[in-house]
Amino acid sequence: MTFSSLLKQLSHIALLQAFAPKASLIDPATVEVTPATQEKFGDYQLNCAMKLTKVLGESPRQIAEKIVSALHALPEAASVFTHIEIAGPGFINFSLNPNFIAKKLMSQLHDPRLGVSPISKPLKVIIDFSSPNIAKEMHVGHLRSTIIGDCLARILTFMGYKVLPLNHIGDWGTQFGMLIAHLKTALPEITETTIPAIDLSDLVAGYRTAKQRFDEDPEFKKHAQQEVVALQNGVESSRRAWEHICTISRKAYQTIYDLLEINLIERGESFYNPFLGPLIQELEQKKLLSISDGAKCMDLEGFTNREGENLPLILQKSDGGYNYASTDLAALRHRIQEEKGSWLIYVTDAGQSLHFQMIFTAAKKASFYDPQQVRINHVPFGLVLRADGKKFKTRSGDTERLIDLLQTAIDKAKQKLIERNPDMPAMELETAARTLGLNAIKYADLACNRLSDYVFSYEKMLKFEGNTAAFLLYAYVRIRSIQRKTHVNIPQLLTEQTPLLLEDPIEISLGLLLCQFSEVLENCIQELLPNRLTDYLYRLAEKFHLFFHQCRVEGSPKEKSRLLLCEATAQVLQQGMILLGLKPLDRM
Ligand code: ARG
Repeated sequence: MTFSSLLKQLSHIALLQAFAPKASLIDPATVEVTPATQEKFGDYQLNCAMKLTKVLGESPRQIAEKIVSALHALPEAASVFTHIEIAGPGFINFSLNPNFIAKKLMSQLHDPRLGVSPISKPLKVIIDFSSPNIAKEMHVGHLRSTIIGDCLARILTFMGYKVLPLNHIGDWGTQFGMLIAHLKTALPEITETTIPAIDLSDLVAGYRTAKQRFDEDPEFKKHAQQEVVALQNGVESSRRAWEHICTISRKAYQTIYDLLEINLIERGESFYNPFLGPLIQELEQKKLLSISDGAKCMDLEGFTNREGENLPLILQKSDGGYNYASTDLAALRHRIQEEKGSWLIYVTDAGQSLHFQMIFTAAKKASFYDPQQVRINHVPFGLVLRADGKKFKTRSGDTERLIDLLQTAIDKAKQKLIERNPDMPAMELETAARTLGLNAIKYADLACNRLSDYVFSYEKMLKFEGNTAAFLLYAYVRIRSIQRKTHVNIPQLLTEQTPLLLEDPIEISLGLLLCQFSEVLENCIQELLPNRLTDYLYRLAEKFHLFFHQCRVEGSPKEKSRLLLCEATAQVLQQGMILLGLKPLDRM
């Protein structure tokens, strides 16, 4: 059990004892214990006294005093706290007994899950992330979605959820008619059985020309429209061209996923195509559709456009074609009704928030799910800006390719490593540069609160100080080298029942921080904010350096106990890095 939940439990018992029978009316959720905002306030705080004045009919201060004396009277009080203080109008601050912290840390050291208990029921989470569009380059927005989504998937898996990571690739829609019509003349091999030797950049260029022809040439436009119909009806040559286009694009995305070690199951928009007709039928039967300018729409309350007029959700265009929204509504229904997902998560840029809010509202209105049973979250994120504050261009031709971006980070990491270790052997340098460069890209993104815009700066992300991947990696490398230097066999030390003594204030606060790993992960998942984890690991690395600075490890009379503290830190750092999708380095 986490310290927060234990203290919450004890506080609730104290409250019941101090204020029986009135206290039985209190909702246990109001008794919230959180880590102290500043170390000078102790370790944890309870702020419910202010909220309870009405129910209990006493002043916050009186309430706090009664809770505190009831807490002191509990049999476990002495072993759990050293002191409990009332501050300000009625805040209750707890300081934990160092022996109590040490005991928990000892059990964490022997637990492969590091004190993180898995959720009681392994609920199925379907997380939709990355999701680039066929025949287009993957852009920085997709990179953000990929990195954030992968991190959330890793944490959820570690917490015991059954995770299905889906890549909702944009592989269907009228734009393919245009591209296929163009390629049929410009690159006739596109319809043959063997795949033509072109790559994604050729497709991107082809797409640009196709768009131009579509806008300028009515004859071509007609062809393009016929191609859409041919594709829908499964005409072999069109179908084959489409498959080749997908395969070529997929190959480019896979290079990026391989580099970043991302696991995703592709289930693109085309997968839901067979469900679109039945979806419309069902909504019609439920009398939820109306016609507006020939399009089939669903009226939703609470959504208006800039002019303040109602904004309907268009689900079938007047020409009978479907759109992004129809596919997403069908996908949502499929994920709940067929996949039996209990929690759906969508990671995209904040620009799509309105779209998802409308989809979720429509799904509720159509009774596709019971909000009591299924949780659905859009996880939006801000823009990616260049170091000069400008937006990365996305749609125009001269976008920087993602793969080049990643390669630049690797090259720059290599330079850094050469500066620090001029004699690093070439082979080691290659691997280390790749690890450091990609770690830096991932970490910088995750460490920025996803709701803010994110400034992409190689220089900042590759720094060795501050809240960066290198700083974290360095703390870890440092611990491993301390352990090597002492020649103490750590696995053996762990079996020896060596006591872990937390005496020095910095030892105590490092020990406490280590025990908070599981609370941090819980928060991370509750708020779906990976930066909760990076912030924590950064604080941990900083605290560790401070400890190492203030407390001698090697040759100290407390060497063994301190080595255990080092080991506990290394374990949490390592697991934390795995959850962020980072890879360790042996030296740097
Ligand atoms: N392909 C979309 C884009 O590039 C993202 C898809 C996100 N997922 C979804 N279910 N709509 O913007």
